[in-house]
Amino acid sequence: MPYNDPSPLEVRILTRRFGLPDSASLDTYLAHDGFQGFERALKLKPEEIIEEVKLSHLRGRGGAGFPAGLKWSFVPRSSPKPKYIVANADESEPGTCKDRLLMEYDPHQLLEGMLIAALAVDAHAGYIYIRGEYRYLIEILDRAIEEARARGYLGRNILGSGFDFEVYTHTGAGAYECGEESALLESLEGKRGVPRIRPPFPAVAGAFGCPTVLNNVETFCAVPYILREGGAAFAALGTPKNGGTRLFCLSGHVNRPGVYELPMGFNLLRMIHEVGGGVWKGKKLKAVIPGGSSCPVLKAGECDLPMDYDSLARAGSMLGSGGVVVMDEDTCMVKVALRIMRFYAHESCGWCIPCREGTMWLRKLLQRFHDGGGTRADIGLIGDVAKSMLGRTFCPLGDAAAMPTISFVEKFREEFEAHLDGRPCPCERAGEAVAV
Ligand SMILES: Cc1cc2nc3c(=O)[nH]c(=O)nc-3n(C[C@H](O)[C@H](O)[C@H](O)COP(=O)(O)O)c2cc1C
Repeated sequence: MPYNDPSPLEVRILTRRFGLPDSASLDTYLAHDGFQGFERALKLKPEEIIEEVKLSHLRGRGGAGFPAGLKWSFVPRSSPKPKYIVANADESEPGTCKDRLLMEYDPHQLLEGMLIAALAVDAHAGYIYIRGEYRYLIEILDRAIEEARARGYLGRNILGSGFDFEVYTHTGAGAYECGEESALLESLEGKRGVPRIRPPFPAVAGAFGCPTVLNNVETFCAVPYILREGGAAFAALGTPKNGGTRLFCLSGHVNRPGVYELPMGFNLLRMIHEVGGGVWKGKKLKAVIPGGSSCPVLKAGECDLPMDYDSLARAGSMLGSGGVVVMDEDTCMVKVALRIMRFYAHESCGWCIPCREGTMWLRKLLQRFHDGGGTRADIGLIGDVAKSMLGRTFCPLGDAAAMPTISFVEKFREEFEAHLDGRPCPCERAGEAVAV
């Protein structure tokens, strides 16, 4: 995937080596501060490494925004069981396409982040669980792993330290559910990718029933900088309790879509207008999905806000996985809700009935509605079905499907009403349909 032109507003920490000649090679990595964070970590005690990560206010970039240092501290180092490091490279949330760039252009940064985590929890094996469609990246990662091993940065007695760590790539088969951490672990173990009951959480009983640090690719990629420059330096880039930069995947109806690394807390309207070059074709902004398809939609008037976990939560949405989907004034919101639900109905793993049946009912209801066959009672029914799924499944896929649907019905009710009485989609009638 070609990397878009950088924006002058970016603060490039994780992406700073993108664009360098042969950026995926170990030589390029070493020539640009590579493995310095790990070398510093070697001189620290495990609890000091974890303290540094806590100090950075690095929060998980996979969706939920859980503090990474705190998660690492839950791993019982003294357990006699082996410990594992797992990088979640499933990247299946619609609107999200950042981890692939991190792996394509700078795979050693990910390896270094995993290695530092391994030191912190005394793990000796790690897995990169990568979605099936990213097969081309496996070659890049395997080459990087081989190169690092040949030069003493992986394998036995790393850099003469006495510490051993191996990394293996493992491919999924393209199931969204296998990005959910517990289903991922099932799949990694060779089983059907369905969620596990928690607790216990992966930190205590993860891969093969052993303590496991499981983080998103971008989360691990931030760790080398934190160890090299210090947690405080990383924290200072963002807002309180939301440290660092974040890769935002700006897509939809903007003039310059792309993946941009911006400080946490960057204003969403500025992102659309100054980084993304504004809404395309001179049109007005109607709405934004701020963090991937599972996040509640924001109306244009709600978008003047800092992009960090806490600000988005206060606005009733989520920062999620950084997938910012911009929609112009002509977008049919019923069609967007339908498009999203088609995805969730297809991707529900079928393990929990409220998710399996709920997503299927909602897809049918929204399809009928969009085609002009809906009734006024259906509007309430869509919201009711979605609400009855919330919190009733083993994993948050059910919530991920329900939350955006509830927001579309509540915030754009008039558009649902415009589809009533046998009227087909008004946007399509006006010849203004936009593929979603
Ligand atoms: C249905 C579903 C799909 C998910 N897909 C991904 C994914 O593709 N990549 C990812 O990193 N996290 C995904 N997550 C979140 C993971 O379960 C987990 O919270 C995350 O990998 C933890 O890493 P982090 O703390 O660094 O964010 C998904 C969650 C759900 C419920």
